[in-house]
Amino acid sequence: MLFDVFQPLPADPILGLSLAYQQDTNPHKVDLGVGVYKDEAGRTPVLESVSIAQLRLHEAEETKSYQGPAGNVQFNALLQALIFGADSPQQARIRTLQTPGGCGALRVAAELIVKASPDATIWVSDPTWANHIPLLGSAGLQIRTYPYYDPDTKGLKRDEMMATLAQVPAGDLVLLHGCCHNPCGADLSHDDWQQIADMANRQGFTPFVDLAYQGFGDGLDEDAYGVRLLAAQVPEMLVASSCSKNFALYRERTGAIAVMGANETQAQNTFTHLQSIARGIYSMPPAHGASLVEMILSDSALRQQWQLEVQGMRERIHSLRHQLADALRPYGDFDFIPQQRGMFSFLGLSEAQVQRLQQEFSVYMVGSSRVNLAGINAANLPYLAESIGKVL
Ligand code: LMR
Repeated sequence: MLFDVFQPLPADPILGLSLAYQQDTNPHKVDLGVGVYKDEAGRTPVLESVSIAQLRLHEAEETKSYQGPAGNVQFNALLQALIFGADSPQQARIRTLQTPGGCGALRVAAELIVKASPDATIWVSDPTWANHIPLLGSAGLQIRTYPYYDPDTKGLKRDEMMATLAQVPAGDLVLLHGCCHNPCGADLSHDDWQQIADMANRQGFTPFVDLAYQGFGDGLDEDAYGVRLLAAQVPEMLVASSCSKNFALYRERTGAIAVMGANETQAQNTFTHLQSIARGIYSMPPAHGASLVEMILSDSALRQQWQLEVQGMRERIHSLRHQLADALRPYGDFDFIPQQRGMFSFLGLSEAQVQRLQQEFSVYMVGSSRVNLAGINAANLPYLAESIGKVL
């Protein structure tokens, strides 16, 4: 039989944790696995601005007819302005295509790169988000890594990273986390972005920024610093973005891929290929999430409300970083946690310690000891810290 060849695969290293957590009957269980924002009550609520937009959309929507492979053009323009800055001088050289989430953006971009240059290699940070490799690699892109996180210092392997990037040849691409590095939380400094821009110009590689957490680090504009610096200085670049986290639209699959060309004609030509690739994979992206984002970003009061909600999520995560470092103080120095940004940090535990935490204490995190800080709250923090202390 056709499908007899298949042996069962292990669960996804990140998404698989949710099912295991749901099935756990321990009343003290703690979920620091999948990267979704949670409030103090452990819920992932629909944002208030999104709820209002949904009501308005319900009243205003007149058709569910097709939109085309580029998706919602107003959404594309608004998201492009959010990422690159509304007054960016590069706007005319940029084209943005709505995609099914940030994953769709990464996959469509990978297909585009392979179409442009079948021999291109993309360099990704070591470590990088676990799904980067399947998303990019299954399009046929060759992948190499550059040194990034140093488990000893809990910071960047800056010298090794720069030395490796200095060897990336013309025609290759370098994938950079725009902010809130997933999984390690250690971000590039302003000076690092400048050095990378200089190398891209000198050596001829193309930067590809994954901006999945805009607003969760230091602010909406602050988190776009690297993207905007590169856009101002390099001839070509790609930016994958996601509304999963900052609009909490996770299951609505709302994201975009932006391409910046050396000139407007080249950007427009490339955009036609992006549309053709989308048509060949999923035809067109789902409409609902992008309609909500369009409504929020184009209404000043709603936009203001959304910005306050993003600020609230960002500040809560930042406060939890401090609280966790304080709670773990009896067991070691975790002061690196408040220095990092976004939802994730590595605790620096071994795979065996992570297993013990899950099996003996019902504390769930990714095998690399990546924790989603947003899963912490006042009620579970003492138990969490005590459990971590016991496996250390
Ligand atoms: C994560 O890293 O946990 C999130 O981006 C969710 C996912 O799809 O892996």
